[in-house]
Amino acid sequence: MKNKLFSLLVIALLSTSCSNSTRRSDMLLRDVYKDYFSIGAAFNDGSIPVPMDDEEAVVDDGLYNHFNSLTCENDMKWEKIHPSEYVYDYEKADKYVEFAKTHNMGVRGHALVWYRALPGYMNKSKIHDKETLLLKEKEHIDNVVEHFGDSVYCWDVVNEVISDSEDEIITDENAYRQDDFWYELSGKEYILKAFEYADAKLKELGIREKVKLFYNDYDNTKPVKKAKTMHMLNWLLEANCPIDGIGLQCHYNMGSFVKDELESAIVDYSSLGLEVQITEFDVDIYDETPSMAIEESYDILGAPEKILDAQATIYDHAFKIFRKHKDKISNVTFWGIRDNNTYMNDPTEFVGHAGPNFPYIFDIFGEKKPAFYVIADYED
Ligand code: GLA
Repeated sequence: MKNKLFSLLVIALLSTSCSNSTRRSDMLLRDVYKDYFSIGAAFNDGSIPVPMDDEEAVVDDGLYNHFNSLTCENDMKWEKIHPSEYVYDYEKADKYVEFAKTHNMGVRGHALVWYRALPGYMNKSKIHDKETLLLKEKEHIDNVVEHFGDSVYCWDVVNEVISDSEDEIITDENAYRQDDFWYELSGKEYILKAFEYADAKLKELGIREKVKLFYNDYDNTKPVKKAKTMHMLNWLLEANCPIDGIGLQCHYNMGSFVKDELESAIVDYSSLGLEVQITEFDVDIYDETPSMAIEESYDILGAPEKILDAQATIYDHAFKIFRKHKDKISNVTFWGIRDNNTYMNDPTEFVGHAGPNFPYIFDIFGEKKPAFYVIADYED
């Protein structure tokens, strides 16, 4: 009897240590999610251990190994790779593509057309008619799509053209952003054209099936913005637009995450036959709604535990939904890697709360946060 009790104890101890040693949070996130979708991150100069231009190399903490998809946070945007009318500068973007290749990552191309990342020559005072605008659009898309070829597995062809106003009845007039001179000059046509230009170039290169074409936006899980987006997508699809997918940026803060909205957006967009990707996921630890009223700024070293746990709950709920709809979702990308390197701490980039922010799954020291543990050690 004594012996039997002893062996039971040994078995119990062994199985605990065994389950500890096989915790998924000890694995790379890309492996944890290998049967679900690829796991991506936005990379910038502070993310990878190669010197860009004359900058110093950052410490190689290896955290990038968790990801098998890379998005350039800024370095494939129009203003960066096509800074003056007859000059393309691919040097930096190419370094990221090279880095991705040597680390077995795919590259999400971001973004061909975005009104907020244009150089001086692409502005209202320089371009006065639709013909010139479409010519410039085609020239840019042709050059960029050809340069990267199938080194990217998809493009955000058009970024953020849907308006944020809360309208009850959706029309073309209120669906699209009106503060955009592209819309002023061409109406919605430039959106369709962007996809057609990219599609034609990929076909000419014989790589159309290797590169998917996406529309990408923020807040497109919210009901009114979703209705406007569906309005645009239905029009595009009726016009035989060569669009393959939709990107849901999913920039959340502590008060803005609504489970049901996220889930029904994934289902609704996918019902149009589009592939869904979560392209810029992060959770701002502050709250713009009065409900949680988190007013104070936190210490630059990290937020209090209760805040990080609340943040982890949002990650947990979102990833439950992503896993449930893995048949519709092909990639989930975080808009950064470590909390020490976030656009949310750059007042020129971010219009939210002006405090130190901690939106990601690794803290400023590169340690795993509660958010990492909940998405790795999930129970469903
Ligand atoms: C949008 C863009 C991104 C990035 C973020 C952060 O989401 O798609 O490229 O600039 O804004 O400001």
